Amino acid sequence: MPLPTPDDTVLARYSIRLLLSQQTSEGAYPASPTFSAYRGYCWFRDGAFIADAASAAGHVESASRFFDWCARVLADRAEHIRWIVAETAAGRPPAGDRMLPARYTFDGGDGADDWWDFQLDGYGTWLWALSAHRDRHGGDLSPWRDAIELTVDYLVASWDRPCYDWWEEHANHVHVSTLACIGAGLDAVAADVDPDRAARIADTTVRIRRAIAERGVADGHLVKWFGSTGVDGSLAAAIAPLGFIAPATELAQRTIAVLDAHLTVGRGVHRYLGDTFFGGGQWPLLSCFLGLAHLAAGDRATAEELYAWAISTATGSGDLPEQVGEHLIAPGMTQYWIDRWGTVATPLLWSHAMTLRLGLELGRFTPSDLAGPIDASGAPELSDTPELSDPAEAKDRVR
Ligand code: BGC
Repeated sequence: MPLPTPDDTVLARYSIRLLLSQQTSEGAYPASPTFSAYRGYCWFRDGAFIADAASAAGHVESASRFFDWCARVLADRAEHIRWIVAETAAGRPPAGDRMLPARYTFDGGDGADDWWDFQLDGYGTWLWALSAHRDRHGGDLSPWRDAIELTVDYLVASWDRPCYDWWEEHANHVHVSTLACIGAGLDAVAADVDPDRAARIADTTVRIRRAIAERGVADGHLVKWFGSTGVDGSLAAAIAPLGFIAPATELAQRTIAVLDAHLTVGRGVHRYLGDTFFGGGQWPLLSCFLGLAHLAAGDRATAEELYAWAISTATGSGDLPEQVGEHLIAPGMTQYWIDRWGTVATPLLWSHAMTLRLGLELGRFTPSDLAGPIDASGAPELSDTPELSDPAEAKDRVR
């Protein structure tokens, strides 16, 4: 079946409007305004990639406001972070539930709901996104200096600890994409910190690279976690946009090839084999990460196809879901999650961010197409796109 081809500039304008209109007065980006389990929270991981897309789209102030939000969250916990670092140095690394959480309420609180919270990747990713923002738009990082230093100290002390991965699972493993986020973030700010911290960063990133080479590679490709032989869709990010693994290397090429062969069906990308979340569907944001990796490695045609698939998952009103229920790995589990949390998170702001990011990188539209006043009222232009306005199809996709 040919993929529907919505007008991608129209969809991109809808996406940027959505990101900006949902950003809270505090600067947080909600993961999904409507999904029961995510409502009211902002993740460092999602938020950093959303800010990166807003920055790439030319919305400088929105991205800066998110980084300000991160800095406030960290400043509020400065004493606790120093305690974690000191305890770790004394050989008493605090338990996972004393480490920094993955997500916060919009006002920077911890929130009252239990979550799979100990995740390190977002703390690297926000540093990387902040530095990329500065490289793109100029300025210096001094307004964020204290938060950068706290984050660096936290990551240098804790990088090698097992923790939950991008999918908030498997807390007993060291995840290679988590390490790539940490390494990319530390590298990104190394020139902006004092010489002592810069030396500790240099030492840590050498160790991270060595650990990945020794334990995070099998059969010439990156693996999901130390000791595993399988892959995870998040590994594409290590190649692009994070650039922690250079795209021209054999390691990158082989990783991309295995992600294509093992996780990709018709350009829709699964998280990992064995995924059961909502039945284990395909994630538009992962098609975008894989597209960015292909593009960085020189394969524009495949990147275009992955992008086309990702935007084809938009509902009739222009919203992008977290995943679509096609080629389900574990169809018997879909209903379990619907009963528990409701239907798939739609819109997911991170999905919108990644289609923006890949679309910009491919030159499908430019920041000037995405400039101008933001009218947050719906997405009327999308009704011009017949392939996307059939509610039955939209419902089927986002089942
Ligand atoms: C995903 C996370 C994501 C969160 C919020 C979870 O289901 O596994 O990667 O950060 O949703 O979007």
